[in-house]
Amino acid sequence: MSASVVPTLKSQSLTVEAAANADSIAIGFLKSKENIFTFNTNLSLIAKIEKHFDVNLKDELSFFSATGKAGELFEVPVSDEGSRCERILLVGVGNNSLTDVRLAGASLGRRFRGKESSLFTLVAHTSSEIFAHAVSLVLGNFQWTKKTGNAKVKAPIFYLSDTHAAQIERARVVAQAVCRARDLIHTPANIKTPAWMAQQAKSYARNSELVVTVLSGKALSEFGGLQAVGNSSPNPGPRFIQVAYAPRGSKNWPHVVLVGKGITFDTGGISLKRPYDTMIGMKSDMSGAAAILSVVSALPELAPKVRVTALLMCAENALSGTSQRPSDVITHYGGTTVEVINTDAEGRLVLADGLAYADLNLDPDYLVDIATLTGAATLGLGRQYGAMYSRNNALAKKLHDIGETSGDRVWHMPLIDDYSVALHSVVADYNHTADKPRFSAGSVTAALFLEKFVGTRNWVHLDIAGPARSESDAGENPKGGTGFGVRLLIDWISSIK
Ligand code: BES
Ligand code: MN
Ligand code: ZN
Repeated sequence: MSASVVPTLKSQSLTVEAAANADSIAIGFLKSKENIFTFNTNLSLIAKIEKHFDVNLKDELSFFSATGKAGELFEVPVSDEGSRCERILLVGVGNNSLTDVRLAGASLGRRFRGKESSLFTLVAHTSSEIFAHAVSLVLGNFQWTKKTGNAKVKAPIFYLSDTHAAQIERARVVAQAVCRARDLIHTPANIKTPAWMAQQAKSYARNSELVVTVLSGKALSEFGGLQAVGNSSPNPGPRFIQVAYAPRGSKNWPHVVLVGKGITFDTGGISLKRPYDTMIGMKSDMSGAAAILSVVSALPELAPKVRVTALLMCAENALSGTSQRPSDVITHYGGTTVEVINTDAEGRLVLADGLAYADLNLDPDYLVDIATLTGAATLGLGRQYGAMYSRNNALAKKLHDIGETSGDRVWHMPLIDDYSVALHSVVADYNHTADKPRFSAGSVTAALFLEKFVGTRNWVHLDIAGPARSESDAGENPKGGTGFGVRLLIDWISSIK
């Protein structure tokens, strides 16, 4: 059961009649250095709309002292007997870059949160603008609630130009996938056990060609990392959840394996998180798993010619009598031994099993993991970029470029070999945190640790601790889970030949 309601996206022909038939019309505007206002698209139709409603929209912009900042919103009331339309919304599109077009869309989406209303939007024109705009309308509109007593949550209808109907349909699928990830992330950890995650995967896969396999209990005996972390929580224990998109005839298609960190709550374990407030957001520590589940669930509708297997490494990192101890030595899938130093570095332990499993059993052409792995990544890049690690520079460049256009932006970080001494252990193959000797670069050393489990695969690691959560309700994001990575991975998978 998803707790959010997704608005409807429809394509519509660009006519005055169609526009006047919606409750609101949105028009994008720019302001030049010389303080001249212009509209970003559909100029002749806008002229007709002005005539129809007998308004001068540039005069209105002067009256409002508009700045043109992306997302700035002004309302002009209009009326005309026989037309449904009540207002024209003038939205700033900044410099009309895709990022700014997205901010404008998010601002409009926000304006219609919970409203059963229709909006005819003229803010985007080219196919990439229409796609970005349509997705951001939905993302801005998103809200998650479990409040009681509210009337049924309502959702608007957004009409966009039918010259790019296929892009609108694709935007619907992608935006729904992002919202699905947000729903999973927003669900509190007392509900969202690893077993619940497995149920969600099964329900998304129902009536599709996706195949779900769940391992638990004794079947996880070789998954030392998943067990060491997840057995801290007796009820109901860790889960390895595999969701495969491999339609008939896909045998020779390229194979992408996605591994996601699915820590349903991260207390830090015995190395308890301090200060304690830093724990409150930790129901979002399964954002990587949420992202890949949402990505793979969208694939039957998008039908790329790529096989994709998602491995959700789900466990709760709890503080209990069965928590692992700092100094324990565990054996990962595939036999590598690791000395556990700080039980709060649990993400890399569950990912190591997933990466090794993929390398040893699934023969991936591309192996990508995504995880809210380190606070250090956030220190380095803040909340607008994910940290990306890969030895394959061409692949990293491709993901970087797709990130810029998709909205999920990532920065290629170095795997600094000089720091790998930090992973040395006297008692095991490796130690899993770089505490001794004291190293900085926590996001880099975590990536170097993961690399030990990927064999010779074409591997990319995405540390999304920064962008997976938003501290404020702003732009495309609600406060809390953002669904970061869904757009990036879908666009990338769709680009693989
Ligand atoms: N889930 C956290 C990382 C995190 C921190 C995500 C803040 C989102 C916001 C991860 O499990 C963790 O605790 N990492 C430690 C690693 C350290 C103990 C080596 C960290 O970053 O402090
Ligand atoms: Mn942790
Ligand atoms: Zn964690």
